[in-house]
Amino acid sequence: DWTSEQFVDATVAELKQQLGNDKVVLGLSGGVDSSVAAMLIHQAIGENLYCIFVDNGLLRKDEFESVLDSYKHMGLNVKGVDAKDRFYSALASISDPEGKRKAIGRVFIEVFDDEAHKIEGVKWLGQGTIYPDVIESMSVKGPSATIKSHHNVGGLPDFMKLKVVEPLKTLFKDEVRLVGKTLKIDDNILGRHPFPGPGLAIRILGDITPEKVQVLQQVDHIFISNLKKSGLYDEVWQAGAILTPVQSVGVMGDERTYENVVALRAVTSIDGMTADWSRLPYEFLADVSNEIINKVKGVNRVVYDISSKPPATIEWE
Ligand code: XMP
Repeated sequence: DWTSEQFVDATVAELKQQLGNDKVVLGLSGGVDSSVAAMLIHQAIGENLYCIFVDNGLLRKDEFESVLDSYKHMGLNVKGVDAKDRFYSALASISDPEGKRKAIGRVFIEVFDDEAHKIEGVKWLGQGTIYPDVIESMSVKGPSATIKSHHNVGGLPDFMKLKVVEPLKTLFKDEVRLVGKTLKIDDNILGRHPFPGPGLAIRILGDITPEKVQVLQQVDHIFISNLKKSGLYDEVWQAGAILTPVQSVGVMGDERTYENVVALRAVTSIDGMTADWSRLPYEFLADVSNEIINKVKGVNRVVYDISSKPPATIEWE
């Protein structure tokens, strides 16, 4: 029978054998897979694992700082890289969803390659690939796959010529979580909802500006923290907010307002392939809506997305 303890022992032993005194570079995303892969490799080779966590300016509110703290707390040799401006300039005036994904993928590769070059003599690229990624070879998820699908012009960047080490390649998601528990990875990483690689960029309809990102971060933060406070977070597979370019009339005191509409999305799902909208309690939705409209400048209307997948998708872009 498979146990996570045995898996950890065997895998760490194999990694020691395989990697010896070599250096490994690995991109952390804040998600479960890259974090668990990093902890396994870290147990095998310690400081020779160089982790890179990129702030693309499209993460949730305060998430870069809090996740970076968790990584340091877990003992990882991690470098946080503030690349917000590089991403924002690459995204300026792009409204098309695939255009956003391409720009983000391209900048990520550039930033990661710059950082990998700073690690003298690095031999390996660590990746959190899991079994479903292997079978679903056309997968567009995660930094590594983003890299593959987006970098087909102008030859491979240097870090992609490194040998690849993928300690989770045989595992399913639930097994990855068990291994993460055995490795004592922080709950704020293990229990987290899935979050798309392009982040808030595909939840801002139309072009992206740092100001819009800030508005959406505040809205999203109110929604997510209320889900946690109400004990609903774990009942939902994924949740988030969408900033629409639609403006509508409202009234605040004696003033007429003309501001943006945000949509809330929460779904139940097994694997993201199909999904149903979460039947969140009306009272909960009412409270979240009030809090958003009262606290977030620039938003005067909140709607709840009641579409299932298919035919709708989870994300709006
Ligand atoms: P959709 O919108 O296709 O989303 O129903 C299914 C799941 O995939 C995530 N998603 C992405 N993840 N890069 C990612 O890493 C992407 O470009 C991307 N697009 C969608 C989405 O958040 C959901 O979990």
